[in-house]
Amino acid sequence: MAEQTLDLAAIAAAARLLEKGALAAFPTETVYGLGADAENPAAVARIYQAKGRPSDHPVIVHVAPGADLTHWSDDLPQEAQQLVAAFWPGPLTLIVKRAAHIPDAVSGGQDTVGLRCPSHPVAIALLQEFKGGKGGLAAPSANKFGNVSPTTAQHVRDEFSDELASGLLGAVLDGGQSEVGIESTIVDLSRLATHGPVLLRPGHISSEQIAAVIGRAPALADAAAPRASGTLESHYAPHTPVAMQHKDDLGETLNRLLNDGRRVALIHYSDLPPASASVRLTADPQGYAHALYASLRTMDQVGAELILVEAPPTGPDWLGINDRLRRAAFGSSGILQQFLDA
Ligand code: TXA
Ligand code: MG
Repeated sequence: MAEQTLDLAAIAAAARLLEKGALAAFPTETVYGLGADAENPAAVARIYQAKGRPSDHPVIVHVAPGADLTHWSDDLPQEAQQLVAAFWPGPLTLIVKRAAHIPDAVSGGQDTVGLRCPSHPVAIALLQEFKGGKGGLAAPSANKFGNVSPTTAQHVRDEFSDELASGLLGAVLDGGQSEVGIESTIVDLSRLATHGPVLLRPGHISSEQIAAVIGRAPALADAAAPRASGTLESHYAPHTPVAMQHKDDLGETLNRLLNDGRRVALIHYSDLPPASASVRLTADPQGYAHALYASLRTMDQVGAELILVEAPPTGPDWLGINDRLRRAAFGSSGILQQFLDA
């Protein structure tokens, strides 16, 4: 994106739509977001309507670089300021106590708010233009509830073709393919005194990086942690069943399924025999995350009965990737065995 010139007219037009309470989708460095004025409950309600998402699920509020965070929270811990200084603009969302005047709609009725300042130049330009940089855009990933998040403008247009036609979605800003490719890391700082920092969703910014800044590693989410829809067991899922297997078993599994006449799509990064369709991703976590969702979407469209995914490595840099793949495969647990037993 850096060399590309921004379409300032399109960005200004989207900002005007958003100021009137309409929905506009925009690129971020993680995935595309479906934006609405965070301080307009009717606008936020349109997000839930378009996504088919339960309205008790909170949405992240996106703010411009340098925004006054005391507008959103009157209880910003020092840790929040340290993390903002270290990682914003960037793929990190902070959960903090919300100020009383912030509508219930963005927090799903909880007493917290999720704040994030994205680094994508189009997102930044939009946030600076919207309400003169003083507003916030509530924006979940721009996909129907439970589906794979979009990493290109075309994914958004495919996902919301009906809503674009009806006018419920007013605009889709194009910022090319999202660089990071998986959703932001979410850290809960709203219960520091009792629980310390808690990692609600792993992402590109790791626990180790967070610990290096605030002096302690975030704990894994506990049962009392604030609800996050991205933390539902089944999420980020294509329509085709997904199964994960280690490469040592995958060669034989593929052989058996293909011999049985099954149509199998394969997402892998090691040398493996061909499947009915396949995508080979790079073996580095950044490159892998960048291409993962687009690969899931592509493999979802080849008419396969199963998407087999070679289980990625398990190091800390692969945590976010494993988390998303586990959720993509959750709803299809058992299907591989069923095929093998048939
Ligand atoms: O990278 C991202 O975070 C993308 C881009 C568009 O910024 N957004 C995104 O939004 O992934 P969404 O709504 O698909 O996922 C946000 C997650 C959800 O699981 C939501 O429940 C959680 O953040 N969340 C938002 N506000 C929260 C809050 N106050 N407390 C707990 N969880 C919260
Ligand atoms: Mg999402």
